[in-house]
Amino acid sequence: MAKQDDDFKRVISHAKEYGYVFQSSEIYDGLSAVYDYAQNGAELKKNIREYWWKAMVQLNENIVGIDAAIFMHPTTWKASGHVDAFNDPLIDNKDSKKRYRADVLVEDHVAKIEAKIEKEVAKAAKRFGDKFDEAQFLATNQRVVDYQEQATTILKRLGKSLAAEDLADVKKLIEELDIACPMSGSKNWTEVKQFNLMFGTKLGATAESAMDLYLRPETAQGIFVNFLNVQKTGRMKIPFGIAQTGKAFRNEIVARQFIFRMREFEQMEMQYFIKPGTQQEWYENWKKNRMKWHLSLGLGAENYRFHDHEKLAHYADAASDIEFRFPFGFKELEGIHSRTDFDLASHEKHSGKKLQYFDYETRESYVPYVVETSIGLDRMFLAVFSNSLQEEELANGSTRTVLKLPSVLAPTKAAVFPLVKKDGLPEIAQEIIEDLKWDFNVEYDEKDAVGRRYRRQDAAGTPFCITVDHQTLEDKTVTIRHRDSMEQQRVAIESLKGIIHEAVDMKGWLKRMDVS
Ligand code: GAP
Repeated sequence: MAKQDDDFKRVISHAKEYGYVFQSSEIYDGLSAVYDYAQNGAELKKNIREYWWKAMVQLNENIVGIDAAIFMHPTTWKASGHVDAFNDPLIDNKDSKKRYRADVLVEDHVAKIEAKIEKEVAKAAKRFGDKFDEAQFLATNQRVVDYQEQATTILKRLGKSLAAEDLADVKKLIEELDIACPMSGSKNWTEVKQFNLMFGTKLGATAESAMDLYLRPETAQGIFVNFLNVQKTGRMKIPFGIAQTGKAFRNEIVARQFIFRMREFEQMEMQYFIKPGTQQEWYENWKKNRMKWHLSLGLGAENYRFHDHEKLAHYADAASDIEFRFPFGFKELEGIHSRTDFDLASHEKHSGKKLQYFDYETRESYVPYVVETSIGLDRMFLAVFSNSLQEEELANGSTRTVLKLPSVLAPTKAAVFPLVKKDGLPEIAQEIIEDLKWDFNVEYDEKDAVGRRYRRQDAAGTPFCITVDHQTLEDKTVTIRHRDSMEQQRVAIESLKGIIHEAVDMKGWLKRMDVS
C-alpha cells in the first residue's frame, strides 16, 4: 500500500513538474477535486480525444458525431431519471465528522481483499517460476479461493441492498465488516442517506423569472434528445451511432485520487441505436471493440479487465466496466451499458414527441434500444500517464525517469538540438523546426549539455530527439535518438519527416485494432 501511495504521489508531482496537470486556482490554495490541464496536458488530452473520435466517427460509416450544449431543458433530467435516481449513498462518521460514500467504503474493503489475492499470486509466481500457471493457482489455492469468495459475497450483498434501496442493510454491512473511518479509525457511523449528485444553476436575469437548470451529469442525454434530428437529417439506418465528447459535472462527495474522480470532467460517449432484441449481441460486440481500442495503445493487456456489474444503473439491463490497473489498483476506466429503450421511451413520455424509427423494410415503427460506450477522458489520461511513467536503471548503473507515452499521443513529437550554440548549428536546427512544425509539434532546445537535454525530453515524454552537429554541416545528416530504446541513428535531414510520421501516425496505431 505504501509503495502504491509513493508511486501515485510521483505521478502527481511529475504531472505538475512537466506541465501536464495543475491544481485549479492554485494561487488561492486550489479548489478541491478541480484541475487544469497545462501546456503538455492539453495536447495529450486533445490527442486522446482525437484517437477516440477517429476510431468511433471517422472509421465507422454508420457513426456520426455531435456537440450538444451543456445546458439542457430541466425536464431532460426528470426524464432521464437523474432527478430521482442519480444519488450516492452517504454515511458520516460521528467522531471525525468526515463524510464518505457508503458503497466506496465497502468497495475499498474489498480492494484490500483483492490486494491479498494479488500478493499470494506474486509470491507463488516467484516460487514456481516458469512453471507457474496463474489460472490454475487462482482456481485451486484454498486461501485465494476463500478470499475470492469473501469478495464476491460482499459485492453481491452490496449490489442487492443498493438495488433495493435498502440503506439500513448497507450500514449493517459496514458494521459487520468492521470498517473504520480511514481518517480517525472510529466506527461510530450515522445512518446511510441518499444525496443527489447534480449541480444546480439558474438561467435568467431576475430571481423571479430565473429557470432552475442542472449542469449535465453525462453527455449522453444531449445525444438522446437529438436522436430523431440526426437520424432524419443524416438519413441514418439502424443500427447507427451518435458520438460526442464534452464536459460533465457531478457533485462528487468523495472526490479524490487526483484526476480519477473530479467534479468537472470530460466524457467521450457513443450511443448505438439498435433494433429491440439485438441488444445482447451488440453489447458483446462493443465490449470487444472497446477493449481492442485500449489494447491498440500498447499499455499492456495485463492491465485491463472486465468487471460485469451486479448493481445496475437505473437505465441498464446489462453493464460492464473496463477496469484499468491504476497506481491505486484496478478501477473503472470505461463503461459499456445496454440501456434498453429507457431513455428514448422516457423522453417520448415527458416531451409528448414521438422518438421512433420507421423501418422501411418491415414497415414498422419502434423505439430503438441503445448500447452505450462511455469513457472518461480524464481517467484515460491518468491511465496513459501513470502507466507511461517509469524509472529505469541504465547499464552504467545510473537511473533515468522516462515518460513512455504511446508516441501517437505524445504532446511533442520531436525536440531539435544544436550540439553547440555556434558554428551555424542553431540556424540549421531552426530550419529543421520550420520544416517539421507543419506536420508535428516540435520543440527547440539549446540549453545545457546534450545528455541533460535528453533526460529532460525523456521525462516530458518526447519520442524523438534530433541533434545537429558539425557533421551536419558537411553531409546534411543528423542523429535521431529514440526515447524508449535510447538508440541513436545517423539519418539524412530529409528523411526525418518520414521516420517521425511512421512512428506517430494515428492510422498505423488504429490499424492495430484489427489484429489485437
Ligand atoms: N452515460 C453513462 C455514464 O455517464 P458512468 O459510469 O457514470 O456512465 C462513465 O460514467 C465514465 O465517465 C466512467 O467510466 C468514468 O471514466 C467517467 N467518470 C464518471 N464520473 C467521473 C468523475 N467524477 N471524474 C472523472 N471521470 C468520471
